[in-house]
Formats: sequence, structure tokens, C-alpha cells
Amino acid sequence: MRIVFDLGGSVIMPENPSSEKIKEYAKVFKKLKDEGHEIAIVVGGGKTARDYIRLARELNANDSLCDTLGILSTRLNALILAIALNDYSIKKIPTNFEEAEIILSTGKIPVLGGTHPAHTTDAVAAGLAEFINADLLVIGTNVDGVYNKDPKKFKDAKKYSKLSFEELVNIAISSSLKAGSSSVIDPLAAKIIERAKIKTVVVKGEPEELLKAVKGESDGTVIE
Ligand code: UTP
Repeated sequence: MRIVFDLGGSVIMPENPSSEKIKEYAKVFKKLKDEGHEIAIVVGGGKTARDYIRLARELNANDSLCDTLGILSTRLNALILAIALNDYSIKKIPTNFEEAEIILSTGKIPVLGGTHPAHTTDAVAAGLAEFINADLLVIGTNVDGVYNKDPKKFKDAKKYSKLSFEELVNIAISSSLKAGSSSVIDPLAAKIIERAKIKTVVVKGEPEELLKAVKGESDGTVIE
């Protein structure tokens, strides 16, 4: 299978990042590659991005500049993962889909961060999945699926086991419109997933959960 992984920045780069944890992620991707899958990975910005964006805001930077700092942070995280993947990847972080596809075609794992201002790495992952005709998009986030409301704030939040593409778009748009909420998926990513009809699994971004998602054994949310 051709698989794109979308790893949230806070997942791979938490408050206290550890090389052991990054090695665990690398092990999963190497295993999948050895099993014959073609893999591309998109990594988010996490704390690094948040810190730089906050500093830039306080210095009156505009949103585009803040996004630029966010993108640079995602590329730092991508390079750390590429280093952990050693020969399975290369130490050049692609800045667009074409470059990523070239790396994929050489049998290596492209690891990307952001591409352009005004969206998140979810949209990059969905766009890349569309561009390379991926069979599966696995979104590893800090919750274990898509819920009807924020499970960190509401105890009675319910997880969806399955969603249609249209339902995903509606959930992404309505949650992004609520002030202060952070949607589990960027609405632009949801729209791309819908138009390209990319089978997508949203899971908790732990190494073993990513493996289960590929095997169809995860208890996250399947969108198809
Ligand atoms: P993330 O994709 O990590 O954003 O990019 P996020 O969803 O806010 O963070 P996670 O999932 O909790 O880690 C970090 C920031 O980088 C900029 C945006 O400002 C984004 O909020 N960015 C990222 C872009 O402008 N373009 C991109 O392609 C990627």
C-alpha cells in the first residue's frame, strides 16, 4: 500500500521530547517499509511552533510571518525524524509535493513539514495523499479518533467509529468555527480528503496505534 502518515507535532515533539520515542516511531515506519509499503510522512510543529509563533505575535509579526515560523518548526521536527530513519530516508526535507514524490520514487521515505502559509500540516498530508494517489492516510493525533465534541473538555463526548467524507467535512468546519476550539482535523484537509476520496484513519499518534491503523485493527475513526 501507498500510505501517508500525518503526525501531529505535539505527538512527536511533546513538552519533553525523547530520542527513544522518536526511535520507536522510526522503527514502525522501517517495519512497514520492510513489509513492502510505500510511505511518506508529514510532521507537525508542536511546542516549537507554538513558542515561535507566540514570540513573533508579541513582536507584532503578521499571520503570514507567524506561519513561516510554524513551517520552519515543522521542518526541524521532520529532519529529526528523517535522521532517526537513517538510510530509509534522506536528510533533505521536501518543500513541495513534487520533491516528495521524487524521493518516494527512489524507494526512500520522504519526511515533510509544512509547505505554504495559511494552513496546517493536516492539509499538507491530505494534499500529498491526493498528489501521490495514496491508498491510505493515517492521522496520528493527541486524541484517539474524531469525537462529536472535545473529549478533553466534555466527559460525555462520543467517538465516531466510522464517518463518511461529507460528515468529516461538516464536523471539521463546525468545530473550527467555535471560538478557541482546536479541531481534530483542519477543514481544508477534510475538504481535500472528501474531493479525492482518500480512505483515512484518525488514531492516537502512538507508534503501535499507527501500525494497527495500517492493519485495519485500530479503534480510531475510519473515514471512507
Ligand atoms: P501544525 O500543522 O503543527 O499546526 O503547524 P497545528 O495543527 O496548529 O499543530 P499541532 O497539530 O497541535 O502540532 C504549525 C503551524 O505552522 C504553520 C501554521 O501557522 C500552523 O499553525 N503552517 C504549517 C503553515 O502555515 N503551513 C503549513 O503548511 C504547515
